[in-house]
Order: sequence, then C-alpha cells, then structure tokens
Amino acid sequence: MSATLTDKYPNYSPGLEGVIAGISTISEIDSDRSSLQYRGYDVHDLAESGSFEETAYLLIFGKLPNQAELDGFKKTLSSEREVPEAVYTALKALPKDAHPMDAIRTGFSVLAPFDPDYEAVATDDAANLRKAVRIIAKAGTMVANGHRIRQGLEPIKPNPAHNTAENFLHLMTGQEPNAKTVEVMDASLTLYAEHGFNASTFACRVTVATLSDLYSGIVTGIGTLRGPLHGGANEEAMKMLLDIDQPANAQAWIDDALEGKKKIMGFGHREYKKRDSRAIYLTKVAKELGIEKGDTRFGDIADILEHTMESRKNIFPNVDFPAAYAYYLLGIPIDLYTPIFVIARVSGWSAHAIEQLRNNRLIRPKAIYEGAANLEFPPLADR
Ligand code: SDX
Repeated sequence: MSATLTDKYPNYSPGLEGVIAGISTISEIDSDRSSLQYRGYDVHDLAESGSFEETAYLLIFGKLPNQAELDGFKKTLSSEREVPEAVYTALKALPKDAHPMDAIRTGFSVLAPFDPDYEAVATDDAANLRKAVRIIAKAGTMVANGHRIRQGLEPIKPNPAHNTAENFLHLMTGQEPNAKTVEVMDASLTLYAEHGFNASTFACRVTVATLSDLYSGIVTGIGTLRGPLHGGANEEAMKMLLDIDQPANAQAWIDDALEGKKKIMGFGHREYKKRDSRAIYLTKVAKELGIEKGDTRFGDIADILEHTMESRKNIFPNVDFPAAYAYYLLGIPIDLYTPIFVIARVSGWSAHAIEQLRNNRLIRPKAIYEGAANLEFPPLADR
C-alpha cells in the first residue's frame, strides 16, 4: 500500500491485513513455525494417522471422536449422502459448460429448503449441528453427480459403505476407487478442511452474523472460494504446470513470468511467510504419486519454480500448488479441484458459523470516506 495512505490513515489496513476480527478456538496458524493445528492437534497427525471424518467431527463437535462416536457419525453421514431429486433437476438445467463451482453453489441453494431443520432459528445450536452434518455428507455427492450430469450421465446412488473420499471418487468415476487414491483424497480433505479467518470463512461468518441461516453462509463461502486468489488457485496452478509441460521449460517460463510481474498461482500466502505447512505434506504425497504413476515431471518443474520463487522473492508454495498436481496424477478433471476444496471446507465453514452464532455480534466495519460532500442539488436541466 502506498506510504501516504498508511501515514494518512494509520488505522486502515487494506484487505484487513493483520486486523484481529474475532476470537476462535477452531484452528491456529503459526506462520514462523509453518504449523497448523485444528483444535490443538497438528494437521499432519490428523492427515497421516486420522481420517477426514475424524477431522470433520473434531471441527464441528470440538473433540476427537472415540470409536462409538466415530461409528455413529459415519453412520449418520452415510444415511445423509443422498440429495432430493430437485437438486439434480436444477443441476440438469445448468448449461453443460457451467463451472462446477457454480453447480455446487446452486446445489446448496436448492438443498437448503429441503433440510428438516429449515425452519429452525439461526441460533438453534442443536439444529445447526444437525445441518452441518447433512452439509458435510451431501457436498461430495453433489459435486460428483453434478460432474456426471454435465457429461449427460445420470446421477449414481451413494454407497452407504463409503466414507466421504470414497463416495466422491465412486460417484465421480462410476467405479470402486482404489485404496491409494482414497488415501490421498482423504488426506487432502483433512488438509483443506479448515484455515482460520481466510476470505471464504470470514465471509461465511459475516453472513451468519446477520442471523441468516447456515446454508446461506455455505453459499457465501463457495462464491468467495471460487476466486483464483483463493480456492481457484489450484486449478490455475495446474494450467500453469501444463503450460510449462517439461522441466526443461520451467526456468525460462518462471523468469519470463516474474519479468512480466505475473502472480504465480499456488504461491504466496497472507498468513504464511515461510512454507504453508499443508504444502510440505502434500508435496511429499504428490511426488510419491509421480514416481508411482511414472510421471515425475510436475515434481521436477515444482522444484525449479519453488527454488526460483524462494531465491528471487522469498515466496513459498501454498497448499494449492502440490494439491494441483496430486489431483492431476489421480486423474481428476482440473475444474473439479476447487469443488473438492468445498467438499472439505464445508466442515470448517460450518464450525466457524456455529462458533459465530454461539457468541454473535453483527460484523460491520467502518470505511474512510474520501468522496464529495455537502453539494447543492442541481436541477436535471442544469446537469
Ligand atoms: C488459499 O487465507 C487463507 O488461509 C487461504 C487458504 C485457505 O486454506 O483458506 O490458505 C487457501 O487461498 C491459498 C492462496 C491461493 N492463492 C494463490 O495461490 C494466488 C497467488 N497468490 C497471491 O495472489 C498472493 O500470494 C495471495 C493473494 C495469496 C496473498 O496475497 P497478499 O497477502 O495480499 O500479498 P500481496 O498480493 O500484497 O503481495 C505482496 C508482494 C507483492 O509484491 P510487490 O507488489 O510488493 O512487489 O508479494 C508479491 C506481490 O506481487 N506476491 C507474488 C505472489 N504472491 C505475492 N508475486 C508473484 N506470485 C505470487 N503468487
């Protein structure tokens, strides 16, 4: 920001950078240590030794589930995977080339009035917890069956034996997913689940803070996450990697991009001034996948881009960069990458919405006015 603005308005921080906008017990980012904890548990432990269902339970209910609680949660998720036919009718009405983020945003808008707790007041905590579980259960079904519908295929019924990752992969491909693909998808859902007051989560909190409903908060979150500076970066990062194509092209490509002052998608972060802790884990997973699939070029290109960005600009990859080529190596269509982010992040958004409503105050910041004032109103004929 230009020095004059900060001198002129010391209380103003563009993009609310560094501004404390709330108190939360859901997750903590330690920029210096490049660490991320969900309710006190390191996200790497959750991704490596837990499951997305344990993570979602932790975020929503505030504690890790014991075996009975986890079994009950998974049973409820399985019973809630299907969506009303009206959702599929709406998805079929969309243009075939509509972006899947518009489809999932539409899906949740249609879904809301069908929720059995639709009439509950916004601050009904028990109803919000029930809605959150339904939202987590149904997100993957809508993304995957929306993908089938845009291909002219009929939606598939969820298999109640499937967890969230298996359900998404099964509906998306129409086949039983293999164990390694499920393992990588499950870990990525945990890593994408929650990240403090990021743009989409904060937008979700602003929405429910007016005592609007949880589904409206989710729709706000999806609309916000769609942007390439936020969730949409994983798709743009993959398009960049495909444009570079081979490691031999990488150095010239990045030199040219930086020369042209281009923003490199999948790099940089408002909070992390060093490595995004999630990128550390996902880079390892993505490189292992490359070896397993016999296509290591993206990992090799990544090394060149990462070295150049760090040495020239002290900027590091964020979660979206390794997620991009991990999903590509799993054969997932590029425009589904950000919707997968939604499948995970509905758990974080719901947890924050519920936290906001437990101790709510309308979120309404101020602005500095620099426009005209006290003008005479001229008759139309004189303008
Ligand atoms: C996510 O907030 C979250 O937690 C988000 C997220 C989550 O889990 O919810 O982590 C998910 O959104 C990750 C970020 C995905 N977005 C991208 O990868 C898009 C590319 N990244 C940039 O647009 C940028 O890094 C942001 C938007 C992520 C952060 O930007 P800031 O904090 O507003 O920083 P800035 O744009 O003011 O940049 C500061 C400087 C600038 O240089 P100068 O103009 O001062 O010389 O760093 C440069 C920028 O040009 N810079 C980059 C860059 N990111 C910052 N230069 C090239 N490429 C980049 N990616």
